[in-house]
Amino acid sequence: MSSAFKQQKLPSWSPILTVGTVLPTFFLIGVAFIPIGIGLLVSSNQVQEFELNYTACKQFANGTDGPKKCSEVIANHPEIECKCRVNFTLEENFRREVYLYYGLTNFYQNHRRYVKSRDDRQLLGEIKGSTECQPFHKRDGKWIAPCGAIANSLFNDTFLVQRLTDNGFKTIPIMETGIAWATDVNAKFRNPKLPEGEKNLSKAFEGTVEPPNWQNPVWRLAGNDNDQNNGYQNERFIVWMRTAALPTFRKIFGRFRHEINEENADYHSYLPKGRYQLIVTYAFPVADFKGTKRFIISNTSWLGGKNPFIGVMYIIVGCYE
Ligand SMILES: *[C@@H]1O[C@H](CO)[C@@H](O)[C@H](O)[C@H]1NC(C)=O
Ligand SMILES: *[C@@H]1O[C@H](CO)[C@@H](O)[C@H](O)[C@H]1NC(C)=O
Ligand SMILES: *[C@@H]1O[C@H](CO)[C@@H](O)[C@H](O)[C@H]1NC(C)=O
Ligand SMILES: *[C@@H]1O[C@H](CO)[C@@H](O)[C@H](O)[C@H]1NC(C)=O
Ligand SMILES: *[C@@H]1O[C@H](CO)[C@@H](O)[C@H](O)[C@H]1NC(C)=O
Ligand SMILES: *[C@@H]1O[C@H](CO)[C@@H](O)[C@H](O)[C@H]1NC(C)=O
Repeated sequence: MSSAFKQQKLPSWSPILTVGTVLPTFFLIGVAFIPIGIGLLVSSNQVQEFELNYTACKQFANGTDGPKKCSEVIANHPEIECKCRVNFTLEENFRREVYLYYGLTNFYQNHRRYVKSRDDRQLLGEIKGSTECQPFHKRDGKWIAPCGAIANSLFNDTFLVQRLTDNGFKTIPIMETGIAWATDVNAKFRNPKLPEGEKNLSKAFEGTVEPPNWQNPVWRLAGNDNDQNNGYQNERFIVWMRTAALPTFRKIFGRFRHEINEENADYHSYLPKGRYQLIVTYAFPVADFKGTKRFIISNTSWLGGKNPFIGVMYIIVGCYE
């Protein structure tokens, strides 16, 4: 046996690294990186953003604010629906499409066991959940739908944004369609089949029970745009199910409605500067894991949010080379 391979006679290339070859290479890479970095940074700086930390907001009830914090109210009385109100001012008009995000800190959606605690087959329409979902797979002898820890911990604060006008506070409609990846909505999430002749989505989920932390069965999830029950196809649910890679993250909650419409004509092409109030239905506890919650308004860029980090990294790498 004397193939070229066995005899180790295959041709090889061992570049000789000299100052003369290495430096120009690094230089070229560096020159290529810097403009990319600047481009990314400029596009990131064009994003307008407003951020508000509402972790410690005070209960708003019977027309007055506080004394109690919502975080304490829900810790002691989970059955109470705690609303809180935060005033804020936008100093300039927010241009173009304007999105709402919620941000969490210290929430490890990337934990190995958490990430696996779901059943993608179930999310494509099977009633059965898998044991991967343990301990959130069965309850009272019924399959939990959707099963697993990710779904069970679904973020459940909701936001109402009102703008102060001459005629008092006016609610700005928030849409929750068009916020998830189209590939997720079309290919990864599908409700179980409805029995012949049935229209009511609840019938598709017969024999299942909601996750222990949920107050309502999954078929009750609804797009607020048209109030149709949409179950697994609910976009906020889909957004939550795409787990974040870092413990500090933001996820999209919705977008302000932009269609021209007599009553809300103001919001057609921008969110006007001025005074606002945010009313939060505060249900998601973060005190247990020392987390915080943020509310964010942004006109995203193609990077998907304000993120100078990548741009800065490119420039640093470019200069270093
Ligand atoms: C947000 O508010 C909480 C409670 O007041 C505080 O503990 C936390 O440090 C704040 N986080 C940031 C990033 O400001
Ligand atoms: C608001 O008013 C109702 C009825 O008067 C009362 O039962 C409730 O305790 C009040 N809530 C708060 C937070 O004070
Ligand atoms: C928010 O604004 C309302 C009305 O403009 C005012 O009554 C209330 O005291 C403000 N709340 C805070 C916490 O500043
Ligand atoms: C909201 O989510 C938390 C955490 O999963 C849960 O403990 C709480 O019961 C939920 N509340 C409502 C009103 O859904
Ligand atoms: C669907 O059925 C459930 C209970 O089975 C009921 O509560 C709900 O109102 C029905 N929805 C519609 C749109 O009829
Ligand atoms: C966000 O608003 C700024 C300032 O008005 C504008 O320059 C930028 O183009 C907007 N970004 C997007 C993605 O529309």
